[in-house]
Amino acid sequence: MGCEEEILIIRSYDGQYADRVRVEDLERRCEVGPSERVFLFTDTMGDPICRIRNSPLYKMLVAEVDNQLVGVIQGSIKVVTVHQAQKDWAKVGYVLGLRVVPSFRRRGIGCSLVLRLEEWFVANDVDYTYMATEKDNEASVKLFIYKLGYTNFRVPAILVNPVKHYRSYHLPSNIQISRLKVGVAEYLYRKFMASTEFFPHDIDQVLRHKLSLGTWVAYYRDDTDDAEDANFETSGSKSEMTIPKSWAMLSVWNSGEVFKLRLGKAPLSCLIYTESSKVIDKIFPCLKLPSIPNFYEPFGFYFMYGVHREGARTGKLVRTLCHYVHNVAATTRDCKAIVTEIGGEDSLREEIPHWKLLSCPEDLWCIKALKKEARNSLHELTKTPPTTRPALFVDPREV
Ligand SMILES: CC(C)(COP(=O)(O)OP(=O)(O)OC[C@H]1O[C@@H](n2cnc3c(N)ncnc32)[C@H](O)[C@@H]1OP(=O)(O)O)[C@@H](O)C(=O)NCCC(=O)NCCS
Repeated sequence: MGCEEEILIIRSYDGQYADRVRVEDLERRCEVGPSERVFLFTDTMGDPICRIRNSPLYKMLVAEVDNQLVGVIQGSIKVVTVHQAQKDWAKVGYVLGLRVVPSFRRRGIGCSLVLRLEEWFVANDVDYTYMATEKDNEASVKLFIYKLGYTNFRVPAILVNPVKHYRSYHLPSNIQISRLKVGVAEYLYRKFMASTEFFPHDIDQVLRHKLSLGTWVAYYRDDTDDAEDANFETSGSKSEMTIPKSWAMLSVWNSGEVFKLRLGKAPLSCLIYTESSKVIDKIFPCLKLPSIPNFYEPFGFYFMYGVHREGARTGKLVRTLCHYVHNVAATTRDCKAIVTEIGGEDSLREEIPHWKLLSCPEDLWCIKALKKEARNSLHELTKTPPTTRPALFVDPREV
């Protein structure tokens, strides 16, 4: 460490009251993101490990200097699909929530926390560790890439759509939307999305989780080869299903039950829009202009995951599903946004309603191999040309 007299202690978060309060206080003091842009604060509602506790295996570390809590980091481990020469799955460790209080930065604490978490990954037989950051978060990019040997991996897009509580979408009458039983949803995900990069092998746990609000399919009412109606129901044998030619599915996770978000600073254009649209709304309520919800108060959001489509005419199906989710969200007072994250090259982006102003077109994922065999495969993984990259599955437990 840079400062000789200070002794840095890194230990596991103990979950006791004192640790909880100190970690929450640290979180409040740490801004994430480049200073000239939006700051997103996370309110963990008294449970600092809420963002990892739904993963199969997780850990939070804290850093102390002179009995002061000066840094934190979290990590989770799971098995996912990764296309490598030897096998098409890998154990991955996700690094998140790295924070060091401003007055203790540039003393090697951030670096030490990541290295200690990597030791835990190694002890748990992890093949790759990965993390996500805004690509213009210079401190984070330099720390992970230049200092710790992570490599740019993928640049997924985070799409955000505000919930308009006063307005529900009209859904087309020729499209049927049905909610799937969990077993059927699992069957369809394993059949159609298992080869998607980072598909979690414990998808059943994700779907059965209490935060998962459900999985829905959409299809055209008159879209089967024979006279039979489309049928996603089954009482056992999957062959009973009559799957239409074109269909789309997605699942919804209630992230607002876990933590709340709050905007600290917004781009000027966003502020102007919020203020002026409020005024216009007051004067001309009948215009029903889409005013942005107040993102400066803590708000919850729904995360749409596992968005998938099969067949030719699917754009309208995906849009209708998204509108359906919006209408459900609009009945929940505190849910102010619908968020999803998809591969950067995924053409789904055109179909998922979102506001460019609130979305992040390039979330940077970086990866590092922890085992020798994984190191050999890393080159193939990171060098795949964007056009041939398989779609990406973003796990709602890691949002
Ligand atoms: C990112 C963060 C955790 C770094 O913590 P830190 O303790 O200052 O990091 P370290 O001292 O270990 O820095 C290690 C290396 O990272 C790079 N780095 C760290 N902060 C940097 C900065 N502000 N600008 C440029 N490079 C930086 C440097 O290469 C540094 O090595 P050096 O000091 O020898 O040049 C801290 O800035 C922070 O809490 N930021 C706000 C939260 C955040 O953005 N977290 C990342 C989310 S993924």
